[in-house]
Amino acid sequence: MVRAPNIQRAIRNQPRTYRRALPEGVRLIRLTMPSIEEDDLRAVREVLLSGLLVQGARVETFERAVARYVGVDHAVAVSNCTAALHLALLALGVGRGDRVAVAAYSWPATANVIVLVGAEPVFVDIEPDTFNMSPLALKEVLGRTAVRAVMPVHTFGGPADMPRILEIAGRFGVPVIEDAACALGTELNGRKAGTWGVIGCFSFHPRKAITTGEGGMVVTNDPKLGRKLRILRNHGLDPAATFPDFIEAGYNLRLTEFQAALGTCQLNKLGRIISKRRVDAARYDGLLKDTRVNPPVALRDSRHVYQSYVSLLPAEVAPRRSKMIAELKSQGIETSIGTYHLPLTTFYRARGGYRAGDFPVTDDIAPRAISLPISEALTREEQDEVIFMLSRQIE
Ligand SMILES: Cc1ncc(COP(=O)(O)O)c(C=O)c1O
Repeated sequence: MVRAPNIQRAIRNQPRTYRRALPEGVRLIRLTMPSIEEDDLRAVREVLLSGLLVQGARVETFERAVARYVGVDHAVAVSNCTAALHLALLALGVGRGDRVAVAAYSWPATANVIVLVGAEPVFVDIEPDTFNMSPLALKEVLGRTAVRAVMPVHTFGGPADMPRILEIAGRFGVPVIEDAACALGTELNGRKAGTWGVIGCFSFHPRKAITTGEGGMVVTNDPKLGRKLRILRNHGLDPAATFPDFIEAGYNLRLTEFQAALGTCQLNKLGRIISKRRVDAARYDGLLKDTRVNPPVALRDSRHVYQSYVSLLPAEVAPRRSKMIAELKSQGIETSIGTYHLPLTTFYRARGGYRAGDFPVTDDIAPRAISLPISEALTREEQDEVIFMLSRQIE
């Protein structure tokens, strides 16, 4: 039995849009809330007033800070993680006629970038406990299809089984690009997400632990790839030339100086933010023991950073999930689905002719997953209330 919490939520610093549709005096428990503080505001203000807004010293400082934090030689800041993944494929020469093995359960960007470079995604089913690419399913896919790259995702901030994925991809001589959008700080066997493959990609979208509004970072230990990424990110400009020279038709996928200043400031708080998320996650795990909702599972010897805390509803409740999410919202609790069954989205279903049954684990997980509020702003009382209201929905 989940005990009824003492509900006493006052409106505090709530944007008007979030108050709408809620009973008078009740504030919304947000799904997430970026940790933006005075020092972040000062950092951005200083840059804005300097008049130097793009591709300067702040971007370089942020790149060095992320490279140091993750433990890589090269970090290239870009405008978002979709750009990071896109550049990763281009830098590896993936293009027309190629195939790329990618996790079936992810945000659409993970597969879209493959299509955008002219290649075709080959979806790989996931593990039922961690929601990450299944090494066994990958082995089966690589056994029947030649691919140019493998793209696992560290879903919701929990590490994919990189030792096994690398071992299988290595057997087929295929490079691995890590979609670590949600996984800055995630570790497995003491090694950070984003450093296992040849390239790792991070996001600084506001739903991530630290944010620059939009923003991303590509990391690698390969100097040739690092140089190629820099060229492609900035109009084809030769990063080593003393007089500007353009050696390719590149893109403009740069991060701004004020975003980079914010990013550097945010990075200093990342350890604190992850610790709080892990405490909240452990507390949710405990509270969910009294319910029929299953908490998320992390691999052994891993450090899950809980970009999202995604639990699993009982199968019979899945058809009511959308209604439940709407009802919880009307009660002042913001929840959401986990992420997307990519092969069953309209675009990929039409493109690949996929049907229910092709990816049985993703079929089961995607409709049952529910993401609960998690952020530094979340209080213990709010957590009690989230679980109480959620459990009432499924009784
Ligand atoms: C797994 C995954 N990959 C890629 C992206 C794209 O990141 P961005 O929004 O920074 O482009 C996201 C965004 O949430 C994501 O969750």
